[in-house]
Amino acid sequence: MDIQKVMVIGAGQMGSGIAQVCAMAGFSVVLQDLKDEFLDRGMGVINKNLQRQVDKERMTAAEKEEIIARIQTTTDIQAAKDVDIVIEAAVENMEVKSNIFRQLDEIAPAHAILATNTSSLPITEIAAATKRPEKVIGMHFMNPVPVMKLVEIIRGLATADEVYQAIEDMTKKLNKVPVEVNDFPGFVSNRVLMPMINEAIYTVYEGVATPEAVDEVMKLGMNHPMGPLTLADFIGLDTCLYIMEVLHEGFGDDKYRPCPLLRKYVKAGWLGRKSGRGFYVYE
Ligand code: CAA
Ligand code: NAD
Repeated sequence: MDIQKVMVIGAGQMGSGIAQVCAMAGFSVVLQDLKDEFLDRGMGVINKNLQRQVDKERMTAAEKEEIIARIQTTTDIQAAKDVDIVIEAAVENMEVKSNIFRQLDEIAPAHAILATNTSSLPITEIAAATKRPEKVIGMHFMNPVPVMKLVEIIRGLATADEVYQAIEDMTKKLNKVPVEVNDFPGFVSNRVLMPMINEAIYTVYEGVATPEAVDEVMKLGMNHPMGPLTLADFIGLDTCLYIMEVLHEGFGDDKYRPCPLLRKYVKAGWLGRKSGRGFYVYE
């Protein structure tokens, strides 16, 4: 399977990062989102990240321009018609993802792999929206994509071995480390991480400590690079809530019940860094 042209759906924090690392590895990329303003914001982030590399003399200005030139943007999902792989990074919602995959299945060439960057949703169920479940796979990048080494790779029930192999090879070309895990809610990364974040929110909700104190404990006491509430704000509180809901529903165990304070913040539109306010306020 020869992958040359990549489509990335969603130009948010994850989609823009995925487009950046694909273009840096020499792939031709088309980045799609619902509105031009979302694409402009995503390209702005890519430009800023690459400029930092130029400023640190790790890349020349000409190399930066070559990378940017490898990324086209569009609001038209029909751009899937001539790509070898689609990596979907839209919102963490089964209805939205199934809808996108249904359309991609109609538009993308028969050989194209349809990958999803879902944090927690069942790959098998997303694949069931298509007539090519053997070509559907989970390719779960970590945030911030340009920095984090891991890509969790998750097969659906029907994923073909050659599709798994192609994704593993592509992950290595992106200078990342693939780890295969099975198709269970939250996979490994968010099954372990998100309950810790949810518990940290409970400690604030129950008045055990302030957000600052919780973060200090985990940073200085456990050597975490970011405290769990800073990390939750960084991930996006909406995404954290969706993931907890998937764990709660998927395992049916009350230990995964999302903290009411998390629900309240999301209802208020306090989504963390991306909305300017979450557990902390951002300028
Ligand atoms: N985008 C691109 N690059 C970034 C960045 C961003 N948002 N934030 C930081 N960087 C780069 C910096 O430019 C810097 O690069 P160089 O060393 O090459 O100059 C490097 O990362 C280190 O940055 P800083 O020195 O400014 O800050 P730091 O040492 O605190 O590191 C961090 C920042 C890497 C984000 C670190 O705080 C960290 O590892 N945090 C935890 C991240 C994490 O846990 N991610 C997983 C989230 S869960 C997930 O992704 C799965 C899911 O489904 C929800
Ligand atoms: P985000 O809110 O930053 O970006 C989502 C983008 O998708 C937005 O620009 C939105 O306009 C776009 N979008 C929504 N519906 C769309 C559609 N139908 N077609 C095209 N674009 C659409 O979210 P994010 O943090 O980038 O998360 C995206 C996905 O990646 C989610 O599935 C999330 O669970 C997963 N993920 C997130 C993280 C994280 O730390 N934030 C880490 C790993 C995986």
